Amino acid sequence: MMMIININDLMGFGKLQDIKEELIVERIEKLKEKKNAIILAHNFSKPEVRAVSDVVGGSSGLTTGANETDCDMILICGVNFMAEMVAVLNPDKKVITPGRGGVCPLAKQLSYEELLEAKKEHPDCEVLLYMNSLAKTIALADCVCTANNALKIAGTMGDNSPILFGPDLGVSYYISKGTAKDIISIPDYAVCPVHNKISVDKLTDVKTAHPQATIVAHPECRPDVQDMADYISSTGEIVNFCKESGKKEFIVAADVELSHMLQNEVPDKTFYPVSESLVCKHMRISTLVNIVDALETEKPEVVVPCEIADAARIPIERMLEFS
Ligand code: 13P
Repeated sequence: MMMIININDLMGFGKLQDIKEELIVERIEKLKEKKNAIILAHNFSKPEVRAVSDVVGGSSGLTTGANETDCDMILICGVNFMAEMVAVLNPDKKVITPGRGGVCPLAKQLSYEELLEAKKEHPDCEVLLYMNSLAKTIALADCVCTANNALKIAGTMGDNSPILFGPDLGVSYYISKGTAKDIISIPDYAVCPVHNKISVDKLTDVKTAHPQATIVAHPECRPDVQDMADYISSTGEIVNFCKESGKKEFIVAADVELSHMLQNEVPDKTFYPVSESLVCKHMRISTLVNIVDALETEKPEVVVPCEIADAARIPIERMLEFS
């Protein structure tokens, strides 16, 4: 009979890896103290990154976390629009983001010029932008929203004419269905490439395998997928809903990390991802190693030019007021 020997076990590499990670975590904690820094991480970040973070949440939770801190430095693990939002809300603090910085594919889909053009075409419409937009574009908006507060905020707007909303067709659908407001989507093709991969067929397969499970979905999912869901909200609210619900099994129609995180945090319930391939690689750019590097070098710094930051702060603060 053949015996398989794991070379890593023989050489103690597994243990060495653990010791290495422990040392890196220790280094991060020391650097945070020395620089009076805090770490904010989105729910889709790597688990070991979330473990060293002071605030872990969805875009809304990170906005509030960024707004309520009295540290000198903020390190943000997420994508570019989150890093810019933190910099806009904290002009007196150094804001850094590890690695090359993740680029949100949605935020790239609505340009400043395109929004300017849409505003000219619809001069009577108020502009509500999804937070997944760059600061330069947000500077042109009347208000911003996240998946968390989109319905509440859209409900206060567009009484006399449609609301110009972008970028994301799934969230546009979620708002128009949830508020009965007229929405003009700008642009009329923007989708999150990860959440848009979830199809009704795939979701039906998972539901057929687990008919008793409750379907929770992110509003960036396609309209027909949203129509199958029992609960739709932001990553942060999906976490709260699953923790508080009396139900025991959930199908998570979102980036697979949300399902893994919930399984870890709520072990007495069962979470089924729609597919293990639903991974936003941009949200995983932060690692323990590049966090150490960023804290040591205080780079790369997130810089939003003053005039853009001043203009973008107005619609972001309006959102904070309403939500
Ligand atoms: P949340 O605001 O729900 O955390 O989602 C952010 C995001 O970009 C998901 O793709």
